[in-house]
Amino acid sequence: MSLFKKKEGRTVPSVDDILSALSRVQDPELGRDLVSLNMIRNVAVSGGEVSLDLVLTTPACPRKSEIREAVERAVLSVPGVGKVDVRVSADVKAAKGPMEGRRPVEGVKNILAVASGKGGVGKSTVSANVAVSLRQAGARVGLLDADIYGPSIPTLLNLKNHQLRGENGMILPASADGLKVLSIGFMLEDDSPVIWRGPMLMKALGQFLHGTAWGELDYLVIDLPPGTGDVQLSLVQMTPVAGAIVVTTPQDLALIDVKKAVRMFEQVGVPILGVIENMSYFLCPHCDGRSEIFGHGGAAETCRQMGLRFLGEIPLQTTVREASDAGIPIVTRAPDSPAAIALAKTASGAAAALAVLESL
Ligand SMILES: Nc1ncnc2c1ncn2[C@@H]1O[C@H](COP(=O)(O)OP(=O)(O)O)[C@@H](O)[C@H]1O
Ligand SMILES: [Mg+2]
Repeated sequence: MSLFKKKEGRTVPSVDDILSALSRVQDPELGRDLVSLNMIRNVAVSGGEVSLDLVLTTPACPRKSEIREAVERAVLSVPGVGKVDVRVSADVKAAKGPMEGRRPVEGVKNILAVASGKGGVGKSTVSANVAVSLRQAGARVGLLDADIYGPSIPTLLNLKNHQLRGENGMILPASADGLKVLSIGFMLEDDSPVIWRGPMLMKALGQFLHGTAWGELDYLVIDLPPGTGDVQLSLVQMTPVAGAIVVTTPQDLALIDVKKAVRMFEQVGVPILGVIENMSYFLCPHCDGRSEIFGHGGAAETCRQMGLRFLGEIPLQTTVREASDAGIPIVTRAPDSPAAIALAKTASGAAAALAVLESL
């Protein structure tokens, strides 16, 4: 039986013909076809011209152009189609995350925690650049700096002089090029270290999560304090965290900490989106030479052993530190640098991993 209608001797495709062709195109991450995933919408056929919406699960989709091309090819393969117009957009799903006793943050679809077994591995650098990358891709993003031991997001995003403000009993986040930002550092008068007492700390962080006018967000990235102790555990249990990214460096000792961090999240039912190896290798600013100071491949191997996604490796580049010190993240300041490209890739990898979780 022919699926195609004949009109004036020519084959005229129908909407069903287009959908049936697209039901043979799979999303490479989700492993299911685009039609049953509801990623194809508003198909219109006019003569030989087809237009449709391709609605991705994240604007930071790492396979965006690949999927778009596959859609175009599939539509053009339908007899009678001469032209296709694919409008690409994204609709980020809300994560399920573990619930028991946890209070969601209103309007926030996904909370993404960035953790590390120890300090100094680049957790804040990764948090800021991942948040900015997701924002650059077109997502609505917030960044919460919960690192009570050393809040560095105000420096990284040039918000050191930001004065905390409120409206209608809610805290207003600061804005860095449309990225909504709140830091525990905004509550401190100067750089002197503060010893937070448990209850006071939990109250402050509770207000940051639930007493803040975050608005509608696709992703709220949380820069957690380093380590895997009680503070980190309580924080993760305050709200349903959709997924966690673990940042490490290539040294063996740091890799042992990855296992600890993974166990901590497992304990509270938070899925690990993947592991990032920062300061993976040194890129010399003078000769562009690559030195693997601490060896190579440790984090990727740990991921293989533990069945985790390896989100990528970020080179150690002087320009990363310089950008951070200047208050402009490297993905904004030098988007074509190897470190910025690697950071943007880890951001889309994490967003894709979240989308996979949400489609299960
Ligand atoms: N890939 C990198 N290349 C160069 N410097 C880096 C890189 N990642 C982090 N740094 C620098 O290392 C220091 C520690 O990074 P930071 O993000 O503050 O770590 P953490 O939050 O884990 O303590 C900072 O001075 C930062 O600018
Ligand atoms: Mg930090």
